Amino acid sequence: MKRIVSGINPSGNASLHIGNYLGAVRQFKDMARDNECFLFVADLHALTTVQNKQQLEKNIDTLILNELALLGDLKNITFFRQSDIPEHSELSVILGNYTPLGLIKRAHAYKDKLQKDVTEDEVNMGLFCYPILMAADILLYKPDLVPVGKDQKQHVEITRDIAGRFNKTYKTKTFPLPEAYIEDNVAVVLGTDGKRKMSKSLGNIISIFEDEELIKKQVMGVYTDPSRARVTDPGHIEGNMVFTYLDFFGNKEKVQELKDLYQKGEVADVEVKKYLFESLMTYFYDARKRYQELKRNPDEVKTILTNGSKKAQAIAQQTLREVRSVIGLSQAERSNVSQTSALADGYITLDEFATVKLQVGKVVEAENVEKSEKLIRLHVVFEKDTERTIFTGVRTFGYTPDDFYGKQFFFVTNLKPRKMMGEESQGMILAVDGAEGKPLFVSAEGLPVGAVIR
Ligand code: ADP
Ligand code: TRP
Repeated sequence: MKRIVSGINPSGNASLHIGNYLGAVRQFKDMARDNECFLFVADLHALTTVQNKQQLEKNIDTLILNELALLGDLKNITFFRQSDIPEHSELSVILGNYTPLGLIKRAHAYKDKLQKDVTEDEVNMGLFCYPILMAADILLYKPDLVPVGKDQKQHVEITRDIAGRFNKTYKTKTFPLPEAYIEDNVAVVLGTDGKRKMSKSLGNIISIFEDEELIKKQVMGVYTDPSRARVTDPGHIEGNMVFTYLDFFGNKEKVQELKDLYQKGEVADVEVKKYLFESLMTYFYDARKRYQELKRNPDEVKTILTNGSKKAQAIAQQTLREVRSVIGLSQAERSNVSQTSALADGYITLDEFATVKLQVGKVVEAENVEKSEKLIRLHVVFEKDTERTIFTGVRTFGYTPDDFYGKQFFFVTNLKPRKMMGEESQGMILAVDGAEGKPLFVSAEGLPVGAVIR
C-alpha cells in the first residue's frame, strides 16, 4: 500500500466533463482501490486567479460535489479542503527559505504568464510562489506518489528539489522524495468537435452532472463522419468521436455490432448517438444519483470534509512538529515564558495530553457525601480487586448516586490524589460540558473494565 497525495485546483471549470473523468478521476479511483489516498481541493491555489468571492465559493462547492459523486465510495480516500488545514500555509512559508529564486523563475506557469505580454506587476506573488505551496501540500503527507497531469510534472520536480535541499541543509531525511505519477496511456480526450482537447472554454464538452436534456444536446452535436451524406453510405469509425466515446462507455459487443453496421451503411448517426447517450446515463447513473443526494444534504458534505480534515491534519501537524524541531523552532526550544503561561492558563500541550491515562471503570458503590451539597462519592473498580474512591461534585446539576451506580464510565487515573472534604479522591470522572454547563458523562458500557484508552 502506497501513500498518494493529489490536489485539484478549483480555479477553472469546476463542473467536470467526461474528459476530466477519463483523464484524471478514473485513475485516482483505480489507485484508491489499494492505496492510501489523500485528495484535496486546492482552494488557496485558486486565489492566484479567482478573486471574486461568489465565484470562488461556487467553484469550490461544485468541485467538491462533482468529485465526491464521481469517487463514490471513499474507502482509502481522505478528502478535504486545503484551506481547512493551516499547516499547508505554514510549511509553505518555511519551505520558501530553502527554495532558490532561480528555480521558481523557471517554473512554467509563471514563465508562460510573462510571455503572454504581461508585465511583472501583473503577476501576483501567489502565482509566483505557487510551486512552493504545492511542495508544502505534498511534503506534509510524505507521499510515495503524486498523480498529476503532464502539465504538473515540473511542479513535482520542484517539490523534490526543495525537499532535497531541506534534507541536505539539516542532514536529515525529514522529507522522502515523492514521485510524480503520470499515466502514459491516458490519452487526451478530444472534444465533440473531434479536433481539439475537450475543454469547457472551447465549448466542446460532454457534461456529467448537467440535466439530461443538455447532455442529449451535447451528444447530438458530436462530430462523426463528415464524408457520409446518407444513412446508406458506408461510414468511417476512425476519428469518429461517437465511437471514440463509445469505446469507453458502451457495452463492448453492442459497440462492435454498431461499428459493423455503421461501416456497411446500415445504421444512422442518430441511432448511434442515442446509444451513446443511454450508455452515458447508465455509466454515470450512480454518480448522478449521488450528486443529487449530496446536493440535498449539505450536512453530509460538511461531515465528510470535517472528517477528512481531521485525519489529514493529524498527519500534517506531526510533520510540522518534526520540521520545527529540525530547524530549531520547536516548542521545547521556545522560551519557557510562553510554556509556563500556557500552563498557568490551564492548558496543556498535545504532547502532554498524550500522558493522560484514561481508563474504563465500573461504579460499584455510589452515595452522597453528607457534609457536602455537591459531592457524590463513587467506589470504582478498574483492575481486579483494586477499588478507588473518586468524588464528583455534580449534585447541584440534579445528579444522584443512582445515575452512577452499577454503570461504567471513563476515568482519568494518573492524577495525584486530591483531598475533598477530608477524604482522598483518587482520580476524576471524565465529563464534558452540556447545555448550560451541565456536565455530561460518556458511557463506557460494554468496554472491558480497566481498559486504558489510547
Ligand atoms: P485543463 O487540463 O484543461 O486545464 P483541468 O485543470 O480542469 O483542465 O483538468 C483537471 C484534470 O482533468 C487534469 O488532470 C487534466 O489533465 C484532466 N483533463 C482535462 N481535460 C481533459 C481532456 N480533454 N482529456 C483528458 N484529460 C483531461
Ligand atoms: N497544481 C495542481 C493543478 O493545477 C493542483 C495541486 C495543488 C496539486 N497542490 C497539489 C496537485 C499537490 C498535486 C499535489 O492541477
